[in-house]
Amino acid sequence: MNSKIIAPSMLAADFGNLQRDTEMVNQSEADWFHIDVMDGHFVPNISYGMPVIEAIKKHATKPLDVHLMIEKPERYIEEFARVGADIITVHYESTIHLHRTLSQIENAGCKTGVVLNLTTPVSVLEDILPKCYMVLLMSINPGFGGQKFEDITYNRIKKLRSMIDAQGLQTRIEVDGGVTDKNIKQLVAAGADAFVAGSHVFKSANPSNAIKTLKLLANS
Ligand code: DX5
Ligand code: ZN
Repeated sequence: MNSKIIAPSMLAADFGNLQRDTEMVNQSEADWFHIDVMDGHFVPNISYGMPVIEAIKKHATKPLDVHLMIEKPERYIEEFARVGADIITVHYESTIHLHRTLSQIENAGCKTGVVLNLTTPVSVLEDILPKCYMVLLMSINPGFGGQKFEDITYNRIKKLRSMIDAQGLQTRIEVDGGVTDKNIKQLVAAGADAFVAGSHVFKSANPSNAIKTLKLLANS
């Protein structure tokens, strides 16, 4: 299988020291920057938008994995591509014409991802899988960092991995919410291969070490 990806969530970074925290991720063993965009409608929280992503992009030396928790993301795909997104993931629940939205992401030169809320059945993805570079499974209710990982995620990963294998695809499965050094190995065993980690990384005394440990555990 692919080597496992660690994507620190910049939602948990210190916004007053965004350049410092971006450099920390650059120097670390992380693979991507995970960027959480929230609009206060699709989720009950507002995070940041294009200007902040542009600021991170200016210093980032690794791909930006942009997770859109916004209603009708199709209104903004080209803008997110312009400010530096490399992967754009949209929620299945947020866009009516998913196929068209993924085409928009491709045409904007980015890799495509679809996100499922905690209890949206993975079976809804069956026909769209060939168009997905990645599927992001939420392991919490989206909107806030620092929440407890929900155990139902393990079975969801297994089901999705079987669907992907049955179609002979290489689609990545990313997990987002409550990922730590305690559950990452079990998530790999279930079939996930990309991991978002916010508070576990940034609240630790040595964020760079926390990333290194996650990377090691995921790939061992
Ligand atoms: C929540 C976001 C997550 C969040 C994860 O809606 O999608 O990316 O930052 O934070 P932790 O790792 O603290 O659960
Ligand atoms: Zn996220």
